[in-house]
Formats: sequence, structure tokens, C-alpha cells
Amino acid sequence: MEVVIPNAANSIAEEVKAFDATKTGVKGLVESGVTKIPRFFVHPPEDVQKSSSETDTSLQVPIIDLEGFESSRRLEVVNEIRKASEEWGIFQIVNHGIPVTLLDEMLAGAKRFHEQPQEVKKELYTRDHKKQVKFYYGSAGLTIKPSYWKDSLAFNYPDGKLDPELIPEIIREEISEYFSYMKKIGKILSELLSEALGLRHDYFSSIECMESKVIVCNYYPPCPEPGLALGASNHTDQALLTILGQDNLGGLQVLHQNQWVDVNPIQGALTVNIGDFMQLITNDKFRSVQHRVLSVEVGTRISVTCFLYPSSAKISKPYGVIKELQPEKPPIYRETHFAELVEEFYALGPRPSNLSRFKFSLRSEESEENPFQFFVLNCRKRAFFTQKEGLSTSSFKLWAGLTPH
Ligand code: OGA
Ligand code: NI
Repeated sequence: MEVVIPNAANSIAEEVKAFDATKTGVKGLVESGVTKIPRFFVHPPEDVQKSSSETDTSLQVPIIDLEGFESSRRLEVVNEIRKASEEWGIFQIVNHGIPVTLLDEMLAGAKRFHEQPQEVKKELYTRDHKKQVKFYYGSAGLTIKPSYWKDSLAFNYPDGKLDPELIPEIIREEISEYFSYMKKIGKILSELLSEALGLRHDYFSSIECMESKVIVCNYYPPCPEPGLALGASNHTDQALLTILGQDNLGGLQVLHQNQWVDVNPIQGALTVNIGDFMQLITNDKFRSVQHRVLSVEVGTRISVTCFLYPSSAKISKPYGVIKELQPEKPPIYRETHFAELVEEFYALGPRPSNLSRFKFSLRSEESEENPFQFFVLNCRKRAFFTQKEGLSTSSFKLWAGLTPH
């Protein structure tokens, strides 16, 4: 089937909209036989470059064996998770309890969905954020320019709930089973991460910051001009935590010590990465990691991501830096709610973390140089705590002189 894209006389925005309206996704575009990719997929060459010249090939994303995490190896596992979350913001886990066959079935199911006739998939194609099940190309918000070279099928489980009838039958069993394992592994990770912060094991579950989940089945078709496009450009994830399963094609990279490092596929392993909101509440102790996906000329890559975010009751309630971590270091960030990050995601698209807008407005370097600014900074920090005792967010912002953004 031919995919008609308007000619170059139109603006890029119009081209993007027109392509979106075809509802055929990137896969449809490839099937139509394009040899040159539309211009809205073309990234600046420096963003697509495989790696910097001085790449240190000995760098490897930490691999953590969860074997014995409930007994003899608990402390060891917690320490490894702390180190990886502080230094890398990403790690792979093996022996996590999810059967390799289930992971393979999930990836195969995702492939099966995306390889159905276009007419069937089109019914689920949408940019409506409120839909719990969505099929789309690129990023969910359509805002990112240049576009991602990928198609996605997303399932939103607020508070862990999704009517199974909404899941396409072709993938229903896999998604339902995979989700129940994501719940289990999510709970295990929330406990290990709590302990890695020196908190009691149920700390994260008590603040309900990972009760909801989104599962996304990504399909990265081959790209006729892989040197120009990206499966995903450099970004950080906003949610607390991401758990990813990938097939063996590779292409996912993380930025570490200013170098792009491959996240090498390991059969049966899951990749776990820290998101922006986790970085905010842990006061930069755990770091969200910048990552991207390269595109390739041959082969289709499949990945399944699971993002963990707060419960419905908490999504519009403010979270701040975890109080128990504050004796170590005064809070860098003001309180905010997760919904604010999500709004921005839909408005601007995925990109590298911009947590600086949540920082108290004076930078510590300035304050140390200037005693008056230091005093003001402390007043603002006190205001931060006063807010918890009853000031509304907007009046707090006015009172503390923080500019709403
Ligand atoms: C994402 C992402 C990586 C992958 O969905 O945020 O970074 O390998 N995915 O699919
Ligand atoms: Ni990501």
C-alpha cells in the first residue's frame, strides 16, 4: 500500500501531521518502498554518530545477578544496585525470576501485533493521551522533531488496572502475563532501591510512587538511511524507573562519562534504568541516564518497556526530596508532582532531563560566594518545608519568589 506524503512545498509540521494521518506508522512507510527517508526523520549528523572517537570499549553497563537476593546475597545485591544507580543510572539484571520463555513470547507477541495488516492496527492508532491502549509512530506526543524511527503500542495501567478486553487479542495473553511479572519485579526493585538508599524496604511502596505502570511494545523497522535517523534520540525517562526487555539486535546506548556505551543484549536479562522523578526525590543520589536507540539498515528490533509511576491518588500530589536523605545534603529541588513532568513530555516531547527548572532558584555556587544570597536561599528552603504545613503550591511559589514555569 502506498503511503502518500505531501511534497516539500509544505511545512515540516504539515508533513508530520499528514504522515500521522495515514496511521500506517514507520513500518507502513518502509513497506511502501521508500529509499529516501522523509525530512522529518533526519537528525543532525552529530546526534546520529555511532560513538565519539575516544570511546573506551572497556566500559560496560553493570550486570547484577539477583540470585539469592532474598537471603544470603541481599546486602551484596543492594550494594551493587546502589553503586550502579549512583554511577550509571542503569543496570541489567539476570536471575530475576521472569522465565526467559515468557520474555521471548512477549517480544514475539509485540512483533506479531506490529506485523498485522495495517487496517487492523489502524483502529488503535491515536494521539489521545487518555486512551489506555494506543498505537502510534514516533513518540506518544508527536511533538518531537525530528521523529523517531519506530512504531509503538502502549498500555497504560493506572494503579495497575486495565480492562483486559481493551488489549488486542493477538497479544492479550502475553501482555497480561508480562504485566503480572512486571508487578512482581517492580515490587522487588522498589524494595532493593529503598534499601540501597538506606531506607526501610517498604519506603517506596509506602509513598505509592511506583503503583502505576505503562507497558510499551516498540517496533524499530529497518531504515534505508540509518546514518540519518534514530530509533530514539537522546533522552531521559521521566518516570521513577524503567524496566526494559529487548531482543538480540542491539542499538540501545547510554551516555556515560560523555561516551555512548552499548547496552548489549543478554538473553533473558532485563535492563533497569533510573528516571528523572527518581533523581528528583533522591536529591541526585540516583541519576536518570541519557540514552538513545540507533537505527539499522537490516533487521527489525523489538523492545518492551515498562515505566513505573505514582498511583492515581498521588499523581497530582507534590513529591519532594525524601526527608530522610536531607541530613546528607539540603534539598536541591522544590516539590513538584509527576503530572507536571508528564504535561511537559506531551508538550515538548522526550529529551534529556531538564530538572534544573525544579531547582531552588539560586545555585549553591552563587550562595556560597554571597552571604546575602545564602540567607535568601535558606529562607526559600524553609519555605519549602512550610509548604508541607499547609501553603498551597501557587501561594508558596509566590511567597518564595519562585517563578511558576
Ligand atoms: C524508551 C526507550 C529504549 C528501547 O521507550 O523510553 O528508551 O530500547 N526505549 O526501546
Ligand atoms: Ni527511554
